[in-house]
Amino acid sequence: MSKTIIVSNRLPVKITEKDGEYVLNPSEGGLATGLGSIYRQGYNIWIGWPGLEVNEAYQPQIREQLTEMNLMPVYLTQEEINNYYEGFSNEILWPVFHYMSVYARYEQVYWDYYYQVNSKFRDVVLQVAEPGDVIWIHDYQLLLLPGMIRAEAPDVAIGYFQHIPFPSFELFRLIPWRAELLEGMLGADLLGFHTFDDSHHFLNAVTRLLPVNASANVVMANDRAVIAETFPMGIDNAKFEELSDDPEVLRQLESLKEAFGDTHMVLSIDRLDYSKGILQRLQAFELFLQLYPEYVEKVILYMIVVPSRDTVTQYKELRDAIDRLAGSINARFRTINWHPINYFYRSFPVETLAALYNFADIGLVTPMRDGMNLVSKEYVASRKHNNGVLILSEMAGASKELQDALIVNPNNIGAIARALHEALNMPLQEQTRRMKQMRQVVAKFNIAHWVKLFMARLQEVKQLQQSML
Ligand code: UDP
Ligand code: G6P
Repeated sequence: MSKTIIVSNRLPVKITEKDGEYVLNPSEGGLATGLGSIYRQGYNIWIGWPGLEVNEAYQPQIREQLTEMNLMPVYLTQEEINNYYEGFSNEILWPVFHYMSVYARYEQVYWDYYYQVNSKFRDVVLQVAEPGDVIWIHDYQLLLLPGMIRAEAPDVAIGYFQHIPFPSFELFRLIPWRAELLEGMLGADLLGFHTFDDSHHFLNAVTRLLPVNASANVVMANDRAVIAETFPMGIDNAKFEELSDDPEVLRQLESLKEAFGDTHMVLSIDRLDYSKGILQRLQAFELFLQLYPEYVEKVILYMIVVPSRDTVTQYKELRDAIDRLAGSINARFRTINWHPINYFYRSFPVETLAALYNFADIGLVTPMRDGMNLVSKEYVASRKHNNGVLILSEMAGASKELQDALIVNPNNIGAIARALHEALNMPLQEQTRRMKQMRQVVAKFNIAHWVKLFMARLQEVKQLQQSML
């Protein structure tokens, strides 16, 4: 029986250490939550890192536990975590691919470990891959892996999907190891991106940096046709619709109603990340309160920031800056009965997120850059009564599909403040018209549809390659 082997840096569950014991928890982030609902089908396996350095003595036991869930761990040492994950992935690729290249640190040792850890992933994949299997590699932490597997297993079907933007050539060319990265990617048969611009930028980089022939979206790599295409990722919309009727969600919704009554809630949920525009969003909310003082005591910003990569300097600094700004806005505007920002630095179970999505009048999603942004789609999917307003950054991949959101430039603080005012004053009829349209898009292009499209296209690419022999 052939299977799909999903490979990503992070598994959908992560191990954390609590009172000297290892415990398993769901991972955060769009890749894990998005694919989390589909990998269990059939004989599929998901290979990835469980999120921290596991003491060798406990590795076999954890491996066994994960195997029962169709998961297979790749254990990383602390040095590998520091240099491959925090270093190359999150201090080079992440900032450059999100157009924040000033944050990049091009250290040779990061590259050495990136290469080493990608080889480690290759070895684990080759241990479990059998003829007929499809290997589906995800995201920027594993750009070399398609090429490394191809070198050992020339005929295998390899798909690659990138969950973050692919930057314009002018940014990508800054990376000292740019050609090696592209060669690694071209080991795949099909390369998927969230938006047309991302796949276009990739093809442009390939033709300008490598001696390959390309026409339209087909690249000839060592006489093998490789295709780059756009597959905007969806969510499990049915899950969020059903959650709206879940007893625990309804209970939490009641508590929110009791706590906030008629106060309008603006909801903001992100991982801690400079790509998410959290500081600018706070500035916009501050400006909104200044411009429209009639909303003092009538609106709150409910802001969840999920801890992420907090060992990387930029992330640590961002956390401090958010603490300071949220604190100063609260100090400036609060009254005896009200403070404008309810700020949480932690993650929440999906039931709590669902209750908030249901309760909030406005979903405020304003990243500086985002591959897709699933939070915006989750908000829409949860709005069963077709009311509520989504304010969405034009720099998020999701803005290409959710065109009935109030679309803003996240650098334009004034425009975000005005969009908040517009959203709060939007007639119900218009809210409904917009929300219905967006809900249709989110329902149609859901995660199952996305997987089906990608897999079908991968099969077609394999057939095309056969016909070219
Ligand atoms: N999320 C979560 N726990 C939380 C808050 C958010 O699991 O406490 C999830 C959220 O539901 C969404 C994902 O994290 O599915 C974030 O994905 P998105 O694409 O918006 O951004 P990313 O973190 O991938 O950059
Ligand atoms: C984004 C990336 C994923 C990553 C997630 C969480 O969604 O596209 O690859 O897993 O962020 O980040 P982390 O570094 O904690 O895995």
